[in-house]
Amino acid sequence: MLVVGSYNQDTVLRVPRFPKPGETLAATALEHFHGGKGSNQAVAAARSGAEVTLAACIGRDAAGDAALALWAGEGIDATAVRREAGAPTGTALILLDAAGENEIVILAGANARLAPEDARPAAAGAALVVAQLETPVEATIAAFLAARAAGGRTLLNAAPAGDLPAALLAATDILVVNETEAERLAGKGGAPSELAAALAPRFGSGVVLTAGAAGAFWAGRDGGALHLPAPPTQVADSTGAGDAFVGAMAAALAEGLPMEGALRRGVIAGSLACRSLGAVPSLPRRAEILAAQ
Ligand code: RIB
Ligand code: NA
Repeated sequence: MLVVGSYNQDTVLRVPRFPKPGETLAATALEHFHGGKGSNQAVAAARSGAEVTLAACIGRDAAGDAALALWAGEGIDATAVRREAGAPTGTALILLDAAGENEIVILAGANARLAPEDARPAAAGAALVVAQLETPVEATIAAFLAARAAGGRTLLNAAPAGDLPAALLAATDILVVNETEAERLAGKGGAPSELAAALAPRFGSGVVLTAGAAGAFWAGRDGGALHLPAPPTQVADSTGAGDAFVGAMAAALAEGLPMEGALRRGVIAGSLACRSLGAVPSLPRRAEILAAQ
């Protein structure tokens, strides 16, 4: 499978609580992790057993070198990763509070330079292409169309919440959103199952709605609904839980599992990813996911 998306160097500051506007707060720890939704999902899928190619754009800097080392270590094909001299590798500043909740500020940097030509070539041979919203939609649309033309499927994780151009939705087979993103897209609140059922026919794609501890809800584009509850977990840091879900689910789909089995692996992976600090360190491996089924 191909993942089209971002890499960020995550800088995590642990805080007792989030600061108010104008307030200065003392952090209790500073840590650096690999991050970025695209890279996180690629690592999650690779650890789940998928053969993964990543199309991404990173800077010609130390953070970019570290990203390449990560992907080499995870067995991810990075031949579709481009290094850009004119922009730094993406950065995310993450405040993590005592309850494991986060607030994130992102500098896109080189992620914003990912171009259609970077993503298109690898997409034509991919049975499944996965993308998010931290890289330009033009590159994702190009990859999705190339994949579809060759008989492949496309999965869009609409995170972080943002505008979804009609051309992107039209090229999406499976849309994965969390509750906030779903409410934004639906223009109203509601129960997760209802939101998913409302979005699926409107967007003409199957919709997966992830609802944290409540698990995942599926609505098919022509009806059909599923709910997979999440296994209970102790939340140390939820950063990367959504990426663990998407990566594990995508790997299962690429393996040929039906939606229910793919969702089951997704919710397990998402729960496991909450147990420890950081995005990438907490992404579970295949054996752990299967053992928890
Ligand atoms: O989904 C988690 C990721 O979002 C973090 O790794 C951070 O880089 C942001 O992109
Ligand atoms: Na985590």
